Amino acid sequence: MFASRHIFNACQRRAFSASAKQASKVTVLGGAGGIGQPLSLLMKLNPRVTELALYDIKGGPGVAADIGHINTKSNVTGYQPDADGLKKALTGSEIVLIPAGVPRKPGMTRDDLFNTNASIVRDLAKACADSCPDANILVISNPVNSTVPICAEIFKSKGVYNPKRLFGVTTLDVVRASRFISQHKGTDPADENITVVGGHSGVTIVPLLSQSGYSLSGKDLDDFVYRVQYGGDEVVKAKDGAGSATLSMAMAGARFAESLLKAAQGQKGVVEPTFVDSPLYKDQGIDFFSSKVELGPNGVEQIHEIGKITPEEQKLLDACLVDLKKNIAKGVEFVKQNP
Ligand code: NAD
Ligand code: LMR
Repeated sequence: MFASRHIFNACQRRAFSASAKQASKVTVLGGAGGIGQPLSLLMKLNPRVTELALYDIKGGPGVAADIGHINTKSNVTGYQPDADGLKKALTGSEIVLIPAGVPRKPGMTRDDLFNTNASIVRDLAKACADSCPDANILVISNPVNSTVPICAEIFKSKGVYNPKRLFGVTTLDVVRASRFISQHKGTDPADENITVVGGHSGVTIVPLLSQSGYSLSGKDLDDFVYRVQYGGDEVVKAKDGAGSATLSMAMAGARFAESLLKAAQGQKGVVEPTFVDSPLYKDQGIDFFSSKVELGPNGVEQIHEIGKITPEEQKLLDACLVDLKKNIAKGVEFVKQNP
């Protein structure tokens, strides 16, 4: 008992001394939700975070009081809509994670969430543009293919759009793809890092297995691709009406935030696939696309090309682009009609 506590404290101390270079405030909007709570917990355990602010329409202060007792150095504050709560949660923030909004129930697509979540994300984006225009905005709320363009349009309308600082979090697709291939091949998932490009729903999720040296074919390949594209549905079905992925998403969101923090603190070569304002398919009218992105102190440092892919992967990409274009246009149109 004593030994394990001693080891834990020693690890914590090492982590603190390695990282306490820079003050980093992280804000979670929707911090009392299914994703928000474990994500906030993981951010509290991250020694790079010095201040953690949780905002939710309900329950932010309670979750913050609970997490705030954990013996890491960061200060935790919780806010709700009264008394300028949102503004206080956002002011001074370097990273804003947005998992606010409703999750799917069985039988729904992510697009079915649009009617509810589009206005939630629009209003939160307005608050970010006003209170922390220079923060990195990490959008988790679905449908990501549309909510990211909604944020961009709001930031543009307020004259503070910085395409290098807006990210749709697609890390869960990469996490799943890496786990699923390790299950198939009997490898260590920690050694797997499968590239996934496109967007974050159904056929817009395109795993590029060949880039990791794998050459599945036939049913094996079809099953793998299907599982990555519809991994979210697997969880929605299993939760049977109680929501969608929360714990794996919290891990994925925390991983992406950690990558940004590392890059902001000067680490080079930090690369994550993420859905950003991208030049890759702009000539086809597609302004946002997820591919490998090198992160840096200014957010997006470099957007990687897709690279070499197989004819099968090209077919998946072609199908992706058709849906993605519609999803993006829907977000842009929403802000035009409902500014
Ligand atoms: P949830 O219902 O458990 O939690 C959502 C939280 O948002 C609730 O606490 C709610 O009070 C809060 N909220 C609602 N409106 C708000 C507002 N205007 N301001 C602040 N907070 C608000 O849902 P969840 O399971 O945490 O999922 C949240 C979203 O994340 C869903 O849209 C879901 O589809 C999406 N999601 C995305 C990914 C991804 O890979 N990007 C993965 C899983 C889930
Ligand atoms: C996921 O991929 O798990 C999320 O987008 C949630 C969902 O609705 O599937």
